[in-house]
Amino acid sequence: MKDNATTAPPLLEIRDLHVHFPVGNKLFARNRRLLRAVSGINLSLGHGECLSIVGESGCGKSTTALAVMGLQEPTSGDILVDGQSIIGDNAPGRMDRARIAQMVFQDPYASLNPRQTVHRSLAAPLRLHGTPNSEIDDRVADILKKVGLLPEHGARFPHEFSGGQRQRIGIARALILGPRILMLDEPVSALDVSVRAQIINLLLDLQEDLSLSFVMISHDLGVVEHMSDRVAVMYFGQIVELGRWDAIFARPTHPYTRKLIATIPDPDTVLHPDRDRRAGKAPEPPAGYRFCPEDIGRPDVYSVPAESALIEIGPGHFVRCATA
Ligand SMILES: Nc1ncnc2c1ncn2[C@@H]1O[C@H](COP(=O)(O)OP(=O)(O)OP(=O)(O)O)[C@@H](O)[C@H]1O
Ligand SMILES: [Mg+2]
Repeated sequence: MKDNATTAPPLLEIRDLHVHFPVGNKLFARNRRLLRAVSGINLSLGHGECLSIVGESGCGKSTTALAVMGLQEPTSGDILVDGQSIIGDNAPGRMDRARIAQMVFQDPYASLNPRQTVHRSLAAPLRLHGTPNSEIDDRVADILKKVGLLPEHGARFPHEFSGGQRQRIGIARALILGPRILMLDEPVSALDVSVRAQIINLLLDLQEDLSLSFVMISHDLGVVEHMSDRVAVMYFGQIVELGRWDAIFARPTHPYTRKLIATIPDPDTVLHPDRDRRAGKAPEPPAGYRFCPEDIGRPDVYSVPAESALIEIGPGHFVRCATA
């Protein structure tokens, strides 16, 4: 973590966040259920840090990001920026929120209007936030240069760019209002392998130049390893393991983390012979049950009811166990 050790509150803090969705047939009460997409997570993000969230499809990663963005109302819990809540009555105005966090999506088309030139797409948020007309062209040209494009690219439409260039525009769009945090939701998974490294390096350069902090969601553990200071492993709406990636890599403890690491292609074992590959498959726990400490090394056993805390098993390395 690049954060200096002070007692100042973290840049971003997520406290006991729950996001539940009603699902099932609304007409028949007995068919109504609650889907606990996010089920009590606690996370913090330091200044200048990249925290990655990894976990299988549907475990609640994007829902967590959307809650931070104010695009998904939490069922309960709190989200704080610089120690101040940004939830409910404390929610900042549109302008302030835009400068706290912006999102970069897997598919940049999600944030770009295909019928607008890049210049218009980038100028629109500036206009909305009252930037004087005389400054807009310079701000747009400046952000295009920052993401490795040319000011004249502003005259083109999104379809006239390659995938990598489009993601650069998506990043420019996220940065145009000067946010402090980027929520990167699978930022390179739609890109050609050869382009991924370029975008990752761009993000790392921007992080440094603009003093940004990142929350990154990714399935690609290579990307996670390259970019992250810490990693949160998410499983069924909860954080099951948290820590520096090298610590987790060296000693994956939760059965799900072991399964995740076991899926990394084999050639890596040659490069990382110290990696713990006892892993194997983590079976789904029965409803209401979670992994517990006695189960370390026995990923087939789930014997203690759900609600539990994270326990520290190494410096800054936490694992969810039910009996803590
Ligand atoms: N608006 C919604 N209404 C009902 N269910 C939802 C809604 N949004 C998300 N969900 C459900 O919540 C769960 C978590 O979804 P989420 O999109 O956060 O997963 P994810 O971890 O980002 O998955 P992926 O890796 O596939 O993007 C899923 O089961 C999803 O179907
Ligand atoms: Mg998602």
